[in-house]
Amino acid sequence: MKIIRSVQMMMKEVANVNKKIGFVPTMGFLHAGHLSLVKEAKQENDIVVMSIFVNPLQFGPNEDFERYPRDEQQDAKVAEQHGVDILFLPTVDDMYPDELGIKMTINQGTDVLCGRSRPGHFDGVITVLTKLFHIVQPNHAYFGLKDAQQFAVVNTLVTQLDFPVQIVGLPTIREGDGLAKSSRNVYLSKIERKEAKSLYLGLKLGQKLIVDGIKNPATIIKEVKKFISINSSGKIDYIELLSFPNLKSITTINQQVILAVAVNFSNARLIDNVILNEEGSFIDRIS
Ligand code: PAF
Repeated sequence: MKIIRSVQMMMKEVANVNKKIGFVPTMGFLHAGHLSLVKEAKQENDIVVMSIFVNPLQFGPNEDFERYPRDEQQDAKVAEQHGVDILFLPTVDDMYPDELGIKMTINQGTDVLCGRSRPGHFDGVITVLTKLFHIVQPNHAYFGLKDAQQFAVVNTLVTQLDFPVQIVGLPTIREGDGLAKSSRNVYLSKIERKEAKSLYLGLKLGQKLIVDGIKNPATIIKEVKKFISINSSGKIDYIELLSFPNLKSITTINQQVILAVAVNFSNARLIDNVILNEEGSFIDRIS
C-alpha cells in the first residue's frame, strides 16, 4: 500500500492512470463499516484509494473536532490488510493553505435531521468532498448509509453539479446487539453502551409498524419515541420519517422513506436510520 500525504503527489498519482478508481473517503478510526466499503470498492474497481482526513470545516465550534478519535498507525495497518492500494493522508494545511475565499452552501435536504442541529456541517462536507473528488478523480465513491443524510447531500452535489463520479451507498454495519458501528461509540459509558441498542430496536419497531400497514408517519414516530425514551437515558434530538433521498416531510407512506433518529448521550451523539420501501422492506444498496 502506498501512503501519500501531499495533495500534489496524490494528483500526480492519478493523472493519466488508466484504471477504474474506487474511492472511500473517511475521517479514520476505521471500523467494520469503513472496511465493508473497501470490500465493495475492491470488487468494482481496479484500484482503491482511501482518504483519512478529519475535516475541520464540518465541525461546529462546540463539536468534537479536537477530540475526534484518531489512530493513524492502526488505521494504516488495517487499510493495508484489507487491500487499500493508496492511503491518502493530507494535512489540514495542505488541504486548506489559505482562508477559503469561496463558500459552498447546500440548501436542499439540510433543514431536517442532523442539518437542523448542525448548521454548516453539510457545507463543510460538500466542500471537502469537492476537493477530494478533484484530487482523487474516482469513478466510484463509497459511503455508508448510516450517514444517510450525508449520502443524500452528496447525491445532490454530484448530480446537480455534474461530477463524473458514481456514488454508492452501502448498508450500516452493526454490532451484535444492533448498535450501528461508529467511531464515536467509544465515548459511551458502560451503561449507555447497553442502552444504545434501543436506537436500532426502536427503528425496527417502526419498520414493523409500516410492514403491518400503518401509513401515518406521526403514529410511527410516536411509538418509536416512546420505545427509545423508556429504554435509554439519552436525550432524543430527533425522530423523523421523510421521503428518501429528497428528505421531504410526508403525510403518508407511499414511497421510499427514511426513518431516522439522533440521541444525545452524555459524551456522544448517536445517529441511526433505516431506509425502507413503501411496504416497509429494508433498502440496502443505493447507487
Ligand atoms: O463520513 C465521513 O467520514 C465524512 O463526513 C467524509 C465523507 C469523509 C467527509 O469528510
